[in-house]
Amino acid sequence: KATADVRAEISYVMIKPDGVQRGLVGNIISRFENKGFQLKALKLFQTPKDVAEEHYKDLKEKPFYPKLVDYIISGPVVCMVWEGDGVVASARKMIGATRPLEAEPGTIRGDFAIQVGRNIVHGSDSPENGERETAIWFKEGELMSWDRTMTPWLV
Ligand code: PPS
Repeated sequence: KATADVRAEISYVMIKPDGVQRGLVGNIISRFENKGFQLKALKLFQTPKDVAEEHYKDLKEKPFYPKLVDYIISGPVVCMVWEGDGVVASARKMIGATRPLEAEPGTIRGDFAIQVGRNIVHGSDSPENGERETAIWFKEGELMSWDRTMTPWLV
């Protein structure tokens, strides 16, 4: 079967400092693995302020922007790139509503969070932002393509 030569959709997903501090890294990664998305890149990272500012630059005028940047740089985060058909929208569903009290049970925020200012995880809101954010947090060589030869039904 012929396959189109287009780059697969990616989402930049980040476990924020509260998610790392609460020991939720494994739980969150498991959800994406179990769903069937493919891990392209992963690192534990202490964020420089300018990187957090660049990531959230569209929110610069929001009153919560300085606090949001301080929160993101307050401890290490786990940076990930996940790939797969529809991964951006699916990751947002799995993460749940921005305000955790509005997030459905079964979602990451619905299961684990209360406050918007400590909402555990970030996921790109569009495929374009998936690409933009990945380029902020990762160098080209840090993304891996690899075969899932034991699970061809997921490809
Ligand atoms: S807005 O106001 O509609 O633009 O905000 P929203 O799109 O819902 O959220 C954008 C990101 O800002 C975070 N956010 C906040 N952080 C701290 N305090 C408050 N009050 C707050 N409101 C929104 C929100 O979690 C989004 O970050 P990410 O990392 O993308 O989840």
